[in-house]
Amino acid sequence: MRALFLCLTLVLNASPVTAQETLGLAAPPAVVESGLLQHILPRFSLKTSVRVVADDAGAMSLNASGPGTPVFHRDGVTYFLRITDSAPRQQRFHDWLTSEIGKNTVDSFAPDGEPLFSARFETIEVRAEPTFEGDAARGAQLSLIHCGRCHVVGPQNRMKGLDSTPSFAVLRGFADWDTRFQEFFVRKPHAVFTQIQDVTPPFDPERPSPIVPVRITLQDLDAILAFVAETEAADLGAPLQTQ
Ligand code: HEC
Repeated sequence: MRALFLCLTLVLNASPVTAQETLGLAAPPAVVESGLLQHILPRFSLKTSVRVVADDAGAMSLNASGPGTPVFHRDGVTYFLRITDSAPRQQRFHDWLTSEIGKNTVDSFAPDGEPLFSARFETIEVRAEPTFEGDAARGAQLSLIHCGRCHVVGPQNRMKGLDSTPSFAVLRGFADWDTRFQEFFVRKPHAVFTQIQDVTPPFDPERPSPIVPVRITLQDLDAILAFVAETEAADLGAPLQTQ
């Protein structure tokens, strides 16, 4: 009898499995009062059988400022999820909330027909337009002299370029045209006949330039870049990728 009693006590003292699976999540009043948590937490629990409840003393928290992972926003306020350690269950909630399913769950919360929160963040791509400080007029002359032997550089030598060589207008149409020009001297076919003063190593005496070499300075290249920047891209008939 006594042994049985002891057993019962032990069983009762062991923390029940459900309690062990419950995680607390603290959140600002604006979130709690909106009802969002009652909308998302049961859906997470359903998927994972990890119970998350609103709890001011919780191990995880939503906050109106970082640090943490931005998870949703409303009225210009971004809410960040902060987990206290990478315990698998906390990590799981974090991963779910930032997953497509989690985001859709946040977005689908629309108590009065209008979604209150959004889990989508605009990614703003900042690509500064490169500026070219070189002397474009000089660049036009240099292009004609050095590059016009093979490339059509503009109306100046429209009939003179080599057929197999892309015109400057065509090259200007590439999104990365500036990179291509900045490093043209290492790109095919130029490396074997081009010398940029103080930049490229001298030609290997064993392999002299097969044609009259192109010899320019970095300043010359800057001027050429400024000229190409002003060149109108050829319309190749392909739809332009606008961003
Ligand atoms: C001897 C002929 C010749 C000369 C001179 C020449 N190029 Fe080229 N260039 C070519 C050919 C041919 C190609 C095409 C290479 C290809 O498509 O693989 C080319 C391609 C290019 C490209 C595109 C490279 C790439 O990888 O996309 C740039 C940029 C370029 N040239 C710039 C210049 C500039 C600037 C000059 C003058 C300073 C010049 N080239 C002089 C023959 C020449």
